[in-house]
Amino acid sequence: MCGIVGYIGESKPISFLVETLERLEYRGYDSCGVAYRPKNSLRIILKKRRGKIEGLKKELLSHQFDIGIAHTRWATHGIPNRINAHPHFDCQRHIFVVHNGIVENYKELKKFLLKRGHKFRSQTDTEIIPHLWEEYIKRRKNPLEALFEVVNLLEGSFAIVALVSSLDKIFVVRKDSPLSLGVLKEGFLVASDIPAISFSTKRVVNLADRQVGVISKSSWEVYDFHRRRRYPKVGKVEISSQEVEKGKFAHFMLKEIFEQPQILKSLYSLYTNREEVKFKELNLSKKYLRTLQRIFIFACGTAFHAGFVGKYLLEKYARVSVEIDVSSEARYRSLPIRKEDLVIAISQSGETADTLASVREAKSRGAKLLGICNVLGSTLTREVDTFIPTFAGPEIGVASTKAYTAQVFVLFLFTIYLAKAKGFLTSLQEREILKELRDVSRYQEKILKELDSLRRIAKKFSKFGCFLFLGRGINYPSALEGALKLKEISYIPAEGYPAGEMKHGPIALIDEYRAVVCIAPQDSLYEKMVSNICEIKARKGKILAILTRGDKEIVSLVEEKVFVPKLNNQDLSPLLVAIPLQSFAYFVAKNLGCEIDQPRNLAKSVTVE
Ligand code: M6R
Repeated sequence: MCGIVGYIGESKPISFLVETLERLEYRGYDSCGVAYRPKNSLRIILKKRRGKIEGLKKELLSHQFDIGIAHTRWATHGIPNRINAHPHFDCQRHIFVVHNGIVENYKELKKFLLKRGHKFRSQTDTEIIPHLWEEYIKRRKNPLEALFEVVNLLEGSFAIVALVSSLDKIFVVRKDSPLSLGVLKEGFLVASDIPAISFSTKRVVNLADRQVGVISKSSWEVYDFHRRRRYPKVGKVEISSQEVEKGKFAHFMLKEIFEQPQILKSLYSLYTNREEVKFKELNLSKKYLRTLQRIFIFACGTAFHAGFVGKYLLEKYARVSVEIDVSSEARYRSLPIRKEDLVIAISQSGETADTLASVREAKSRGAKLLGICNVLGSTLTREVDTFIPTFAGPEIGVASTKAYTAQVFVLFLFTIYLAKAKGFLTSLQEREILKELRDVSRYQEKILKELDSLRRIAKKFSKFGCFLFLGRGINYPSALEGALKLKEISYIPAEGYPAGEMKHGPIALIDEYRAVVCIAPQDSLYEKMVSNICEIKARKGKILAILTRGDKEIVSLVEEKVFVPKLNNQDLSPLLVAIPLQSFAYFVAKNLGCEIDQPRNLAKSVTVE
């Protein structure tokens, strides 16, 4: 969602502020803006525009500045236009604010402010913040005192960076929306995520929830919302600049697809000793796991699909009953969660508002909370009882790829761990599964070496205006994920379905103008897939099949095929079929000239409900 930047320090060219903002572009946005004070001036300059930062860059003079804030907006309240773009300011144009999140009670606050004579220009919820602040400053409060009043009145989620024109300070606030402070040699850089800061410094302070910071050129102070001074530690960022650059790849998405084998290799070495799964940091006792009967999995989007694969695995190997739902539903369902249940929340970013809300709901019922998360220090990792990091490195492409396979891999390892604790898996069986899990990264590499045929197939299939993705069993979630990838980045309507459901509706779609992607590895449901494929063929549907190398039967029935290596344990197949599915979506989108890394309307991390 929106990206926030703030800088205070020795004078720097304005390009510094804008370039830091550009590193947040991947989060998704529709308009942007900056407010800054040129060197040796008391006047704040404000520039805002609809569209890309590139355009803003052109508008800016080569000013030097020493204090500034910047924003990329993803519209929630009010259409994407220049007026609704941030920064927003008060009546006197003294206070300038950029905000990420949603002020839920903005309507009543706006009513109150309108009565007090404040004039509003935009349709945003954000604009009430500078006006409310102005109102409290008028009541003879100093700016910090007034800010405490403001933050305690706001409901919802908000990361705020603000400047007051007469002060050599920037103010920052964090509540339910991430914000970090980078300590530079001279000055400070604030941003809504760490990769944006990591280019300029490796020394970072992660503000905790409900904290307010006051930052001057040479010092910083942090308080909680009760005005008590807090002393967060300066930590070290482990992200290298290579990890947040595209390198030789045309897009981050492609780079991230190619990173998957290496990530799985590292996870394998980290969480196993080849003989058994080792979760050294996992805070769930063997006794607790032995008696565990029920698991609830909550996640959104791609993470939900990874969790869905996890459900198949956990039920099969650990014989626990697993309930899974998208977090936006789970948080409002009357789920019978009890204190002896385990809730697994899966999230790449660890900042997804719905997932956090569902976790809080489960916490209030006393359940144990396990997070599977890619971002250390994220809100999710701080709120759960224990978590397993997926260590996929920063994922910049909005379409999640490497985070997905890392989540599935970790879920597989956790399943083995639980099944063993419960006595449903012998050491020998564990070793066998691990042996093949180790080979998965090699198999993925093989698939990646053969992507050329998929590039050609994608070109041919780009002409179809509607796709159906079918899978069965553990690859039903793969079908959902394949469809999600395609629609996200190519905007082609695509539906994922369990193949067995085809006759109950989706078959009506099929004719020679529709494409069907069939995930049909040689597993126990293979023959069923053969029948489904015959039914599609009889209706002239154009089929792309993902098959096991050496397939003899389906190969002759379909329009196009891609192969994945043969596995002994087909439960690992979601980790293989993910690669052609992701790559297919990538090549189709590329062929159609879509903006792959920043698809329209999407945000990398959905920090509002
Ligand atoms: O950061 P999270 O894993 O919690 O994000 C969940 C979804 O928003 C995310 O997976 C989204 O669906 C991706 N754009 C999918 O590619």
